[in-house]
Amino acid sequence: MMAVAAAQKNREMFAIKKSYSIENGYPSRRRSLVDDARFETLVVKQTKQSVLEEARQRANDDSLEDCVLQAQQQEHHAPQEDKIELNNEEHDQPQFEDEEEMIPNIEVHEEQGDYTDGRQDDNEDAGLTEEEVVLANAASESPEAENAVQRAAVVVHLKDGMGSLGRILKAVETYRGSILHLESRPSRNDGMDHDVLIKLDMTRANLLQLIRTLRQSSSFGGISLLAENNISVKTPWFPKHASELDNCNHLMTKYEPDLDMNHPGFADKVYRQRRKEIAEIAFAYRYGDAIPRIEYTEVENKTWKAVFTTVVDLVQKHACAEYRAVFKKLRDENIFVEERIPQLEEVSNFLRRNTGFTLRPAAGLLTARDFLASLAFRVFQSTQYVRHVTSPYHTPEPDCIHELLGHMPLLADPSFAQFSQEIGLASLGASDEEIEKLSTVYWFTVEFGLCKEQGQVKAYGAGLLSAYGELLHALSDKPELRPFEPASTAVQPYQDQEYQPIYYVAESFEDAKDKFRRWVSTMSRPFEVRFNPHTERVEILDSVDKLETLVSQMNTELLHLTNAISKLRNPY
Ligand SMILES: [Fe+2]
Repeated sequence: MMAVAAAQKNREMFAIKKSYSIENGYPSRRRSLVDDARFETLVVKQTKQSVLEEARQRANDDSLEDCVLQAQQQEHHAPQEDKIELNNEEHDQPQFEDEEEMIPNIEVHEEQGDYTDGRQDDNEDAGLTEEEVVLANAASESPEAENAVQRAAVVVHLKDGMGSLGRILKAVETYRGSILHLESRPSRNDGMDHDVLIKLDMTRANLLQLIRTLRQSSSFGGISLLAENNISVKTPWFPKHASELDNCNHLMTKYEPDLDMNHPGFADKVYRQRRKEIAEIAFAYRYGDAIPRIEYTEVENKTWKAVFTTVVDLVQKHACAEYRAVFKKLRDENIFVEERIPQLEEVSNFLRRNTGFTLRPAAGLLTARDFLASLAFRVFQSTQYVRHVTSPYHTPEPDCIHELLGHMPLLADPSFAQFSQEIGLASLGASDEEIEKLSTVYWFTVEFGLCKEQGQVKAYGAGLLSAYGELLHALSDKPELRPFEPASTAVQPYQDQEYQPIYYVAESFEDAKDKFRRWVSTMSRPFEVRFNPHTERVEILDSVDKLETLVSQMNTELLHLTNAISKLRNPY
């Protein structure tokens, strides 16, 4: 049973969940473990989708008649025309005859305490939209957040021609917004005359009111809220440059020693204080900084030594050749030594020399979106603290011993590094469901993967190579070994109660990459991305110009390759 418990903890420590920090409205400037825990609790309890469904349900429950009835009970009640208007979508009479009517109506809905739009039609804008839920959630965080000015873009569909544009401008003025850009075009929607795009700055609270107000007018056939850069909020934000990973460090904090009674360090005040100090380093870290050095204590180095000496024996026999080769290199360069824990900065420099991967310190277990996103930039987010001394051979959360012994060797292997980056690139802008699948693929490969090597099965998963109990189980005849096929691997549930009953075996990293690429091409993302190592920027390949530049670069590369082959064939 000990082994079962260890395996469970082992597996839980790699649990990865979905969600970008920013996508979920997390204010990255305000960081503490407790804040992260609160935020995570919120996300776990109410995923964005469930919030949306709940809100939509609420919108449906509030019958329009009730809305109107409540409106009539207000001091500034909505005029009778509104009732007719709200219940008759075909009614062409503009709802707002002047701004005096508009404002009382807004107040009525504000007091109802929801963000329903008061319309009942089949239009896609009917009911509470996801964008508004995201905006409303951000606004409800605090009074400051509610009054924070949000840059946004809205598209309004005009039924009655450009004459009704004046009403929009008046409404923006009423809600103290400032218009940055405005353009119109003949509408492509049936029954609509023109579409108007307006970019504006406005407080979140007022923006929500503005949307509701415009929805209530029959002059307009719908309104869509877009994100700041005109991409729908439904398309998740994702980092385009390595520096933006500063915003991708949201933690899952359920295993923090400060918060989890079952954590081996829970009752150890000194350990908890130490963890806090090291977490602060990660929170304060910014792109471009050198990773601060940690003076590891004698106890911490002792814990490292205990694990290291065990792994040294095991890897020779059970790790794949690529892992063994880099492990030896790390030892030869005196980065992996028994007596002391390697510094992340020296390991990061080692990785950079070999594959261009670098490390950045993480305060704990990150959400899947944030973690996978960093891989796209060849950045690995690594913890820097050490597990509790009473539990050297397993830990309820990742620590630097797991990162260093499990992950570092293969991140210095070119083929594996590329595989890791491709998982990361595929995650950028992926849907929640796809992030879940990518996380699962990551789980069964990078963390618990096996591969073939000269007729034998070897381990390459970091979770196996730093947790020998499961390593021995994985290589015994007990579990079922299946060939790695991303489509089926991605939907295989995790086994959390005991050792994994199924492991996936790759023919080779190259084979895994080929299969992975084919699978990724079936994902829903409507664009391709590419990492430009010179600028550390992810480029979205969405224009002919960009593709032409890329083709030109590739032609140059091909020319060099062709020349090289020719020189090798005819050396003299
Ligand atoms: Fe890991």
